[in-house]
Amino acid sequence: MPLNGSEAYDKDDFFQLYLQKRKNSQSPNDTLEKPYLNELIGRVEGLNFLDLGCGDGEYGLELLGKGATHYHGVDNSTNMLRLAEAALKGKDATLHKSPIETLNLSNHSFDRIISRLAFHYISDLEALARKIHSYLNSSGKLIFSIEHPVITSSYKNYNKGIKRGSWEVDDYFQSGKRINHWMGEEVVKYHRTLEEYFNIFQENGFKFETLKESKPKLELFEDKELYERRARIPLFLIFKWEKAGQEALRI
Ligand SMILES: C[S@@+](CC[C@H](N)C(=O)[O-])C[C@H]1O[C@@H](n2cnc3c(N)ncnc32)[C@H](O)[C@@H]1O
Repeated sequence: MPLNGSEAYDKDDFFQLYLQKRKNSQSPNDTLEKPYLNELIGRVEGLNFLDLGCGDGEYGLELLGKGATHYHGVDNSTNMLRLAEAALKGKDATLHKSPIETLNLSNHSFDRIISRLAFHYISDLEALARKIHSYLNSSGKLIFSIEHPVITSSYKNYNKGIKRGSWEVDDYFQSGKRINHWMGEEVVKYHRTLEEYFNIFQENGFKFETLKESKPKLELFEDKELYERRARIPLFLIFKWEKAGQEALRI
């Protein structure tokens, strides 16, 4: 039975394998995604954050260490939140165990809303975009990363065990649900084209600022061969949006 959202992260074997890969200093997250995310987030001093799909909370700890005033992390995985609680104990942080989709923080206002590699688990991103718009203060920004649409288009070869050397882009314009056989589980993800990502945020109250495709930077790689492999296929997209006024909201 395919697993939605956080469910895979609460399967212990999957979770241990995920952590093992994630904690590798040469992981794609650390070499490709995080450097651009940090760049797009920029200065954090004096800002409060909401992180959707916060995982183990380590990024929250970094933001607070760099001067963020408060960090709200949301995740629906018990395993992840256990780590996040330990990481953020005694810090200016609040954790929420909830699906991102049903989270209710309508009495809060955030300077920055971020999300790292969680939005491709969300089926109704339009509704989430509207919610994020209402949670941001008037000069607020949204910065998020996702699996690149080239990747989410099709997991057919990957699911058959063909994992290296090339990536099959297929069914690109058929957006919707995908099943990814990943680390021993069947995980549900949602594919959207690049144009659809743009439309969702532009039509729901955001003004585009920047986009990065996680182009590898040689100086971040210990191993030139790995760098060359990463230079072949884009793995992530990282977006930055600013909140536009109410007039930008589609009625
Ligand atoms: C790939 S992990 C990334 C974790 C963290 N953001 C990081 O970059 O280290 C995706 C995270 O999103 C969470 N997640 C996925 N779908 C979710 C949903 N619908 N509601 C809440 N959390 C979700 C998972 O539990 C997991 O912790």
